[in-house]
Amino acid sequence: MGRELADIVRARCSSISKTAEVLFVADEPSGPVLGIPVIQPDSLRATDRICFAIGSSVARRTLSYRFSHQPLATIVSDTAIISPSAEIGEGSVLCDYTVVNNSSRIGRHFQGNTFSQVSHDCIIGDCVTFSPRVSCNGWVHIEDDVFVGSGAIIRNGAPGRRLRIGKGAVIGMGAVVVRDVPAGVTVVGVPARPQST
Ligand SMILES: CC(C)(COP(=O)(O)OP(=O)(O)OC[C@H]1O[C@@H](n2cnc3c(N)ncnc32)[C@H](O)[C@@H]1OP(=O)(O)O)[C@@H](O)C(=O)NCCC(=O)NCCS
Repeated sequence: MGRELADIVRARCSSISKTAEVLFVADEPSGPVLGIPVIQPDSLRATDRICFAIGSSVARRTLSYRFSHQPLATIVSDTAIISPSAEIGEGSVLCDYTVVNNSSRIGRHFQGNTFSQVSHDCIIGDCVTFSPRVSCNGWVHIEDDVFVGSGAIIRNGAPGRRLRIGKGAVIGMGAVVVRDVPAGVTVVGVPARPQST
């Protein structure tokens, strides 16, 4: 994820200055990676803006507490399409060919991977992950820390009755979600049902 985001920041991210210095941060640095230096967290300066380049919602949540004092960078590929009426929280990532449609609100530390889309009138919480090609239809409410696997499709809700995916739920890759998903539950399949243990 870090290497993908570095490509975006260096090649197609007009919202971040071309002259900005790009660094990786790791607890056990080795590198450089792609010619980019890797530094330890305690080398971060107070003004350095950070973005959590990691696909796990849980890990980003943990990091958001650990680095709560640090300003955030929001990384949006120039190939992303975002409605002027949409809101994107700080520290979020919108990779290549993502779409956020009309009147949708997305929280902090969202990760929209390649070709994923948030349709109109959705509410998305903090630390939510959309893997590649996730398709979320309109009038859906996704609570904090939800992870959606690649290629999953989420049915639309309706005005006044959003389809709801509860906090910390996991949607398996390829799942088709046709009804609400309770908090903390993993669902898989078509139609999506709780994963058998
Ligand atoms: C749903 C998921 C989180 C489950 O992970 P897990 O708990 O490690 O599950 P396992 O691989 O141990 O599989 C458990 C069972 O669920 C089934 N299963 C796993 N993922 C499934 C999926 N997406 N759809 C249908 N069945 C699935 C397995 O076949 C297995 O069934 P079995 O017990 O009958 O053999 C995971 O498979 C998944 O879909 N992750 C998303 C990956 C992704 O999109 N990554 C993005 C990278 S950018």
